[in-house]
Amino acid sequence: LAGLRRNAAATLLRNWRGSATVPTGALYPHQWSWDSAFIAIGLAHLSPRRAFAELTALHGAQWGDGRVPQIVFNPAVPEDAYFPGPPFWRPLPRQGPAAGVSTTGLVQPPVHATAVLAVAERHPGDATDAAVRQLYPRLARFHDYLFSRRRVASGLVGIVHPWESGLDNSPFWDEPLGAAGADLASADLADDITGLRRDLRHADAGHRPTDEDYGRYMGIVAAYRDRGYADDDLLSLPFCTVDPLFCALLAWSEHSLAELARRTGADPGRHTERAQELAYQLHTRLFDPALGCYVALDARTGRPLRKRTVSGLVPLLLPGLPSGRRSALVATLTGPAFGLGSRDVRGVPSYDLTAPDADLHRYWRGPTWMNTNWLLWTALRRQGETRHAERLASDMVRLVADAGFREYFHPVTGEGLGADHFSWTAALLLDVLA
Ligand code: DGY
Repeated sequence: LAGLRRNAAATLLRNWRGSATVPTGALYPHQWSWDSAFIAIGLAHLSPRRAFAELTALHGAQWGDGRVPQIVFNPAVPEDAYFPGPPFWRPLPRQGPAAGVSTTGLVQPPVHATAVLAVAERHPGDATDAAVRQLYPRLARFHDYLFSRRRVASGLVGIVHPWESGLDNSPFWDEPLGAAGADLASADLADDITGLRRDLRHADAGHRPTDEDYGRYMGIVAAYRDRGYADDDLLSLPFCTVDPLFCALLAWSEHSLAELARRTGADPGRHTERAQELAYQLHTRLFDPALGCYVALDARTGRPLRKRTVSGLVPLLLPGLPSGRRSALVATLTGPAFGLGSRDVRGVPSYDLTAPDADLHRYWRGPTWMNTNWLLWTALRRQGETRHAERLASDMVRLVADAGFREYFHPVTGEGLGADHFSWTAALLLDVLA
């Protein structure tokens, strides 16, 4: 284990670029939002200063309206190293980040306040107090943006692109993407999508989203950009959904924000209220008793997207679950769909193993990922499910010990998939081993 810890630290060092950490060198050569939050949780075991620096750099790119962008581009990296790169995004004057900072116009799941609190709890002291005082207003502005500008479907918070869910090609999005596909403005762009994609130069095409997915991603994001990233009338966008992982992480982080408010002398009350209200909506509107998990919602049609994905288990993180909910979720987690504790499954897969459209090599349609496994490991511990938590931790350690710090893993064979030297795999392993 000492060797694994050393290699995890070496991976994070290798991916540090002076003010932030890249997810991995070639495939993702910039700073990603939720990656940085998970990376900070790992950096807390190496250097709290660097952990806070990581999140401070990210929030330095916050937009005028409060959104914290999905990607902060590194100006030292050639523009065409990543697609869609800096020239694509074009925020309106005075709308985007500070002058000279270049970002995308989307967001990612808000796990940052929880990361800041995790670092702060591990390292009490004056330097931490100063970092928390500096970060709290920025975190609160991001959550204000989400709760006010992204509010859809009576009190739930929506996303406007699959990239915002963090689980780009999750089976949740097949139906709304299919519906959006027909009349997307940038169909011309989609014609040459294979030539434009950069990810396929660095990862196996069979492990990545398809060209058809990418064509639709581009059309949806172009539509949002072309209306100036306006969040009025969200339901008129080609894609607008409610995601259980996004909402659960927002509610969880809002509780963390309440604690950070307390530490800075601000009012924690409004954060606690918002967290409870969002959790209430999530629990009453998104739980599917027949599937035994939470599902997503197509906000445009009001239709539930009835698939068992790992995102639908993440609400297990929340305090005060309705009665019977914990055992229902644990039953799903340990049943044939996700197989936790079974001899034939390694970690918790991203999608229902029994589903006919599961694809155990392809990104979020089957493989086991370290971040969702870390979220469930944390959830199981918080719910007192110690035996399941321990089993999950040992699966996570074994996957990395056998295959390395890969981006994701085959949930049956344990084969390493996607990129190598992947930062959040290293960071979260450090946390599991702590
Ligand atoms: C990618 O580039 O594939 C990311 O998942 C988008 O955030």
